[in-house]
Amino acid sequence: MKGIILAGGNGTRLYPLTLAVSKQILPIYDKPMLYYPLSVLMRAGIQEILVISTPRDLPAFQSLLGSGEQFGVSFSYAEQSEPEGLAQAFIIGRSFIGNDSVAMVLGDNIFFGEGLAELTQAAAAQMQGAAVFAYRVEDPERYGVVTFDPCNGKAISIEEKPKVPQSEWAVTGLYFYDNDVVDIAADIRPSARGELEITDVNNAYLRNGTLRVYQLGRGYAWLDTGTTESLHDAASFVRTVERRQGVQIACPEEIGLEMGWVTPDVLLSQADQLGNTDYASYLRRRVAEITATGALRLH
Ligand code: G1P
Repeated sequence: MKGIILAGGNGTRLYPLTLAVSKQILPIYDKPMLYYPLSVLMRAGIQEILVISTPRDLPAFQSLLGSGEQFGVSFSYAEQSEPEGLAQAFIIGRSFIGNDSVAMVLGDNIFFGEGLAELTQAAAAQMQGAAVFAYRVEDPERYGVVTFDPCNGKAISIEEKPKVPQSEWAVTGLYFYDNDVVDIAADIRPSARGELEITDVNNAYLRNGTLRVYQLGRGYAWLDTGTTESLHDAASFVRTVERRQGVQIACPEEIGLEMGWVTPDVLLSQADQLGNTDYASYLRRRVAEITATGALRLH
């Protein structure tokens, strides 16, 4: 399965923060925002990843992420010259996707919760149809909203930013599709707001009975990064958990090591490049722990 991280848009709602840099490169506490969605794809087992961003911001992502070998993945890059909708990613990414299935994550979506890796690996293993993830929020009108049949729990409709939401369940920015998505995206037409809507793609799968909707329960965090307040909240959340546990959230080097995609040497040389920072110390500490105990994973 291939992966796409969509990090486009002009970030206008965060001006002046984003006048000169991409929203998805802003810090969430101790690392760039994009590391969080990248970690979700990596934990799902995905190594071939296309990063899509604006012509202005793509060079910054290239210098941040490079080839991907430091994480044990391989990055490709493509431009989205105008923000014409999330589904455009599959038109831009058509040749990258080839005949494979594909997962897409939005570059500003932060997920946290025990069990997400297993859930996404299961979604990736299912070759037919599509899988999306729903999360209960207080302000569903800002999102794609999914309604479930009360009798059998099956999704019955998805509406993009409805004025009067029929449920509290927002569709998060993490999507798994079979290869049909390439043709489905090519066929959809711009919505009233002029965008190729991901919700129209999901509705195509819903109509033909092949959309699976996983509910992320209250043990998960799906954090908002759309306002300065929510950016600060997300950073505080990450800081609180990391400082309490002494464990990093969304450290791609660590995940690459745990997945068996890089050797400890790669982490040590990455730590040397990052110099005398807490992040570099963490990489050294994890290598020392793994060497001492032989256990790749922290529990
Ligand atoms: C987009 C999608 C929406 C989804 C949301 C998740 O919204 O259109 O369906 O719920 O991402 O972050 P937008 O970022 O365009 O407001």
